[in-house]
Amino acid sequence: MAKKRLLGWKRSEDIPARAGEGEGEKKIIMTMRRDTSPANEKKPKGGYSGPEVIIPDDSFLAKALPGFKMSLEARRSIRIYDDSQIPERIMKDCLKDATLAPSSSNLQPYELYWVRQPEKKSRLQAACLGQPAATTAAELIIVAARRDLWKTNLKKLKNIMTKGGKTELRGAVGKYYNQLLPKVMSNDPFGVFNKLRLVGFTTMGLSKPIIRAPISDSDHRVWAHTQAALAAQTLMLSLAAHGYDSCPMGGIDEVRIKKIIGLPAQAEVSMVISAGRRKPEGLYSRRVRLEDDDLIKIID
Ligand SMILES: Cc1cc2nc3c(=O)[nH]c(=O)nc-3n(C[C@H](O)[C@H](O)[C@H](O)COP(=O)(O)O)c2cc1C
Repeated sequence: MAKKRLLGWKRSEDIPARAGEGEGEKKIIMTMRRDTSPANEKKPKGGYSGPEVIIPDDSFLAKALPGFKMSLEARRSIRIYDDSQIPERIMKDCLKDATLAPSSSNLQPYELYWVRQPEKKSRLQAACLGQPAATTAAELIIVAARRDLWKTNLKKLKNIMTKGGKTELRGAVGKYYNQLLPKVMSNDPFGVFNKLRLVGFTTMGLSKPIIRAPISDSDHRVWAHTQAALAAQTLMLSLAAHGYDSCPMGGIDEVRIKKIIGLPAQAEVSMVISAGRRKPEGLYSRRVRLEDDDLIKIID
């Protein structure tokens, strides 16, 4: 099969096939990443059904579930890596996978900085407090939460959805992206408007369910970190599915890291993810989790 371009990045055939990825499925997965922006969605009565849509029928489950479970189990936080490199095409595929993570209103308020430049990488290792998970890693990725980019991203998103302004966002989608979302997301630096919105939302919320956040600065921070963390986890699962290990790191010097990549004041570092291939001694312990009952609450 010829190499195909996926949104600017080549996906080569020799990237390990995903679980159950046969020729037919490969085609589906290849086409999955074409532009699926909402404006391209023809909305038939029964919902959207483009060629990239994968229907989770029985045959899908039989193939996807074992691979997913294996990747999930395989992902462990690895603190010492061997000297193996991760091929560039695999790193790019994993990073691209990370961007398939869901995000609030699809605003994707995060950035993934794959730091390859040797001097910056070495400073980044130091800023990860010299943890072996950073110093022995083949690759380091900074996951930045970008609450400051909501307006820019909204503009870009609308541009994609309207094919550069050639079409209009109509109906509920138009109302949401043109009117409601800017109102919900706006955040004035002095907090006066925020307080008014808080009063307004609280009053409205007395009589009907309404959205309560983000209003304050800290709401916006939480909002951006939430989306960044989803992308981070997707990246780590993708690395695992590609046969590579990772470690999320929050034990980091954020101030130094922001300086290394020149992040503006409002941007924040959610975590740094290291990646590579594990040394056996890099897995420190068996997997420990709280009891299911502590974490999973079923409200019957
Ligand atoms: C946000 C975040 C920050 C973390 N920071 C560190 C860190 O700085 N250093 C480290 O060795 N592990 C770090 N970890 C890894 C956790 O210790 C690890 O996920 C946990 O012990 C569970 O083990 P597992 O990932 O192998 O399932 C972090 C994990 C997360 C999610």
